[in-house]
Amino acid sequence: MARILAIESSCDETAAAVVEDRCHVLSSVIASQDDVHAKYGGVVPELASRRHLECIGPVVMEALERASTRLADVDAIAVTRGPGLIGSLLVGLCAAKAMSWQLSIPLLAINHLEGHVRSPFIENPGIEFPAMALVVSGGHTSLYLCPSEGVYRALARTRDDAAGEAFDKVAKFLGLPYPGGPVIDRISEGADEDAIAFTRAVMKNQSLDFSFSGLKTAVRIRATADGLAHGDRATAEGSKAVRDLVASFQRTVVDTLVDTTLRACRREGVSTVLVAGGVANNRRLRRAFEEAAAAAGLRVFMPSPRYTTDNAAMIAAASFLQFERGAFAPLDVNADANLKLGA
Ligand code: KG4
Ligand code: ZN
Repeated sequence: MARILAIESSCDETAAAVVEDRCHVLSSVIASQDDVHAKYGGVVPELASRRHLECIGPVVMEALERASTRLADVDAIAVTRGPGLIGSLLVGLCAAKAMSWQLSIPLLAINHLEGHVRSPFIENPGIEFPAMALVVSGGHTSLYLCPSEGVYRALARTRDDAAGEAFDKVAKFLGLPYPGGPVIDRISEGADEDAIAFTRAVMKNQSLDFSFSGLKTAVRIRATADGLAHGDRATAEGSKAVRDLVASFQRTVVDTLVDTTLRACRREGVSTVLVAGGVANNRRLRRAFEEAAAAAGLRVFMPSPRYTTDNAAMIAAASFLQFERGAFAPLDVNADANLKLGA
């Protein structure tokens, strides 16, 4: 039985988790920084690293306490080494290295994107390969073909904005609070998502790549024309015109994500789909994936909301693959803000 302490600090969540035997989560603690960044409508890197510094010690201690685990009982320390904000990554990485060195516990340096891809396995350890993984978050919108465990082939990425980033920017423009995704999700329920027919970006040459920047601009133009830009929060949330606008935007994003993922599955002959990352929290997206998967005879796995947005349990889940191979990181391993996943 192996027990891993994992740390995640790649963006604006300071998180630590203790996980046993791949998927048995003993604790998962997340200190969100939404309050720090809300007034700026997006993550401010310098403020994020400072808050990580304040939170990392207490968050790790709380994860150990909740798991009734002493540091000395941990078999390895896993930590996100990229991609992400360099200052944020360094806080978690330095803390993990210090504990690893002090206690002579092996260090595992983990790719944040592999963490997201492994997140559905926490609650469904028996998922079979090959699988198609859609990682859809604030920083990424990518498709990976996973032919077998721990093997990733990058099939598609976004050419401009990530889907979550588009949610956040559209919300900010309309005067809705940060992060925009959860608010748009909430106020779109019951609104008319057919109100505005936005055009979906179509790539040339059978490419599976995504693009959300044009859609974001189309929403902006429409909002400006209809006098909905830069409203105050309460008015924006209650306005039927805003709710119909964001519901139509959300529907376009969801249709694009679902259709492209299913196209990738057909092309590669894959019938298992993994959907991960903060945007996988979106209820409209979850319903659409469930319906489309049932209609196409695919199995779709989406983690519970607590494992979709950034968390350390998913980093632990990914780290077991390296732990079992004995692929430990040296103490001079560096953070990599632009780390890629797969070939
Ligand atoms: O995975 P995550 O916590 O961080 C990154 O690795 O980027 O994802 C954060 C993103 C934000 O853009 C946020 O607006 C979006 O996920 N998000 C949502 C929802 N919940 C979070 N987007 C749409 N609907 C949601 N319910
Ligand atoms: Zn993430």
